Amino acid sequence: AYTLSLASSGASAEVPAGGSMLVALRAMGAKVDASCEGGICGACKIRWLEGAPIHRDRVLTPQERETHLMACVAGCASERLVLDA
Ligand code: FES
Repeated sequence: AYTLSLASSGASAEVPAGGSMLVALRAMGAKVDASCEGGICGACKIRWLEGAPIHRDRVLTPQERETHLMACVAGCASERLVLDA
């Protein structure tokens, strides 16, 4: 489990272990595009600011992962993850 925070609104939510970041974002009212929801299409790309995302997608390059994640499949290894959303 981890705390997901949005830089724009300051909103936070707990994402349970095994929970979906995309579902949490929608519950927080964030507008996130999504299509495949399987880490393949690239639609749900979001910039992250703080924390240690776990990348499970198949679209981002190692370089892109330093600044972005795919919300449909990403997890988090830190207690808190801040997104530029
Ligand atoms: Fe396709 Fe996330 S919805 S990569």
